[in-house]
Amino acid sequence: LASIEVDISNIAEGQVVTVMWRGKPIFIRHRTPAEIEEAKSVSMDELPDPFARNANVPDDAGAEDINRAASDTEKWLVLVGVCTHLGCVPLSNQGDFGGWFCPCHGSHYDVAGRIRRGPAPENLPVPPLAFLTDTRIRIG
Ligand code: FES
Repeated sequence: LASIEVDISNIAEGQVVTVMWRGKPIFIRHRTPAEIEEAKSVSMDELPDPFARNANVPDDAGAEDINRAASDTEKWLVLVGVCTHLGCVPLSNQGDFGGWFCPCHGSHYDVAGRIRRGPAPENLPVPPLAFLTDTRIRIG
């Protein structure tokens, strides 16, 4: 399928759900207020990859949290769950930055899915995404 629709109404705050899109895992994270604040508080010079890597914003957009999760829906973070190093699937809610940890070679991603430490060169990408309603999204 080129695109999928997902009902996100049952994803509790703090929970990450994985769905499949084009053969790849997609992480849908319902971020807590604390996680959102944490993601916003990071300064750009702490980020190895300065780009948003978000299919919904311009290619040269920066990796600020607002370019990773849209401001009006910032509690929702949607990512392609494939490590940008060599393609393993990172583990949710693990690692030193509270986001994801890739056990293959030790890449740590934060609560905006941005690479913070380890060999992965890029932030986890944000797929094409649209909110159809407050509780229903289309990916792709
Ligand atoms: Fe994730 Fe190497 S594949 S750190």
